[in-house]
Amino acid sequence: MILKPKKPEPTWLASFIKPNILKGKAYSIQKEAITVKLDQNESPYDWPQAMKERVLADLVQQKWNRYPDGYSTEIQELLAKKLNITPESIFLGPGSNILIANLLLLLTARKETRTLVATPSFPLYAECLRNYEAEHAPWYLTDDFEYDVAKLKSLGPFSLLVLASPNNPVGNVLSKKDLVFLLKEYPQSYFLVDEAYYEFVDESFLDLLGEHANLILVRTFSKSLGAAGVRIGYVLAHESILCELKKITVPYLLNHFCAAVARACLTDDSFLNWTKEVRAGIILEKEKIFKRLAEICPSKGIFVFRSWTNFLLLRCASQEQAENLTRHLVKNDILVRNVSAGPNLTGCLRVTVGNLEENAKFLAAMAHF
Ligand SMILES: Cc1ncc(COP(=O)(O)O)c(C=O)c1O
Repeated sequence: MILKPKKPEPTWLASFIKPNILKGKAYSIQKEAITVKLDQNESPYDWPQAMKERVLADLVQQKWNRYPDGYSTEIQELLAKKLNITPESIFLGPGSNILIANLLLLLTARKETRTLVATPSFPLYAECLRNYEAEHAPWYLTDDFEYDVAKLKSLGPFSLLVLASPNNPVGNVLSKKDLVFLLKEYPQSYFLVDEAYYEFVDESFLDLLGEHANLILVRTFSKSLGAAGVRIGYVLAHESILCELKKITVPYLLNHFCAAVARACLTDDSFLNWTKEVRAGIILEKEKIFKRLAEICPSKGIFVFRSWTNFLLLRCASQEQAENLTRHLVKNDILVRNVSAGPNLTGCLRVTVGNLEENAKFLAAMAHF
């Protein structure tokens, strides 16, 4: 007989777990057996076989009985060289989501902190803050889903502003000019900027770290570098805040596999050039999809937002239409992300740019909706 752990009394469990966590829901991932997967903003192109073999050969050389380097100093140095930044200003972890969760835990633990979260944006931010019972308020995007710095007048000292640029699920960006204004105007506030999709725009905020002590950037290998299945992310900031982050984070975050993948990637310029070509192709495809949708969608009452990422956001005329469209796409073996439960996202679906064949299938299915 299979052992089934005894269920604790619900009231007893409730005496340990905070009510907001008991009420909450874990992040859910659609798991339908669908071929055209356009729901998670992944790269549609897997790594070349030769790169995978290089990683495997490296892995075989590692001592699996030994812990990996506690803070991945070798990878830190390789990445520092690529980014032309000091290694101490980099903190690596298994994906950017856990790093964001830990940064939010660290920065919102004091009652005095006023946290503002770009809305709509990546739901993880607000979910973490709810779990931590950290007070937070939305910084709403405009009706046409742009950032509006004028709405931030209330940003006082000891505030934390959390945003993504480019933003998910909208695809909009905060201009560098606006960010510089905020960093200068509110030197006593922290700005946590998630740059998960920064490779898809020409503008990065990296150079601002030299001038502004109140900026923290978070990045990932999951999107443009096409390594979502490996789990590598990093924080860029002055080492003083990273030292504090270290205290609330366990060591050995990058195992031998993550480190071997990062090493292979960061020491192979031809691979990095290949990812640039892939990215250029995805951007081109996104423009094509946008143009075609702009022809197909208006007569159906569907609006498509401009995007600076590898995905597009569609707003259907109603929630019902969004659900019908999701079902219609599933019938056509296509999975997109229905994000309509999010704040101000009624009727919205997010579609990742796939490979040429997937995009053609998606557009054909849209035309027949
Ligand atoms: C804005 C944003 N930040 C962070 C992440 C998490 O990425 P990672 O795979 O590095 O955890 C995502 C994933 O979709 C994202 O869209």
